[in-house]
Amino acid sequence: MENKNIVWHQHKVDKQVRSEAMQQRPLVIWFTGLSGSGKSTLANLLEQKLVERSHYTYLLDGDNIRHGLCGDLGFSSKDRVENIRRISEVAKLFVDAGMIVLTAFISPFRADRDYCRNLLQAGEFVEIFVDTPLEECEKRDPKGLYQKARQGDIKDFTGIDSPYEQPENPEIHLKYDGSSAEQAVEQLYTQLVAKGYIK
Ligand code: ADX
Repeated sequence: MENKNIVWHQHKVDKQVRSEAMQQRPLVIWFTGLSGSGKSTLANLLEQKLVERSHYTYLLDGDNIRHGLCGDLGFSSKDRVENIRRISEVAKLFVDAGMIVLTAFISPFRADRDYCRNLLQAGEFVEIFVDTPLEECEKRDPKGLYQKARQGDIKDFTGIDSPYEQPENPEIHLKYDGSSAEQAVEQLYTQLVAKGYIK
């Protein structure tokens, strides 16, 4: 909630100073897709590639963030909205710090992904749709959660009894069958450079 008695303080060391010191353009690389689609694997490999090339990065990952910052949230629509709101604000702070932030959250609602996009300046948000069909994610079922959801042991599971709104205009649409993560990340990296997001 906005408080009119709190005034924004403009510090001398700002985003521009920090990003010039780091010699990089700050950015949010936002992975979205179903559970088990490969978001974390791809984000993890992409981060390694960026670090190898001397970029400063930070990876915010759904399962990890839900142990701490968002540990009080569940999977109702209301909680998911709050989850992505907090992540978006954190991502914005990291961008202000000059970092390249990678995020790996289902982030099933378009409006929430756009919330993050709208917090940032033009060109600072790259949405990557990890497009793995539900059948494929369910077949993989790396954490056994789809099986639990089908048995009714987990409620509000994305793709089963909770919706996933596909991105309409993602910066990158990655059709991913899970076969070679390294190859997929190589292509991702090439696209990010070609589109001018990364030097
Ligand atoms: S989001 O919808 O709020 O963006 P987030 O990415 O943080 O979700 O967390 C998703 C992860 O939580 C999944 O990869 C899965 O491991 C786990 N999980 C547990 N319960 C659910 C559920 N009901 N729906 C989706 N994911 C769940």
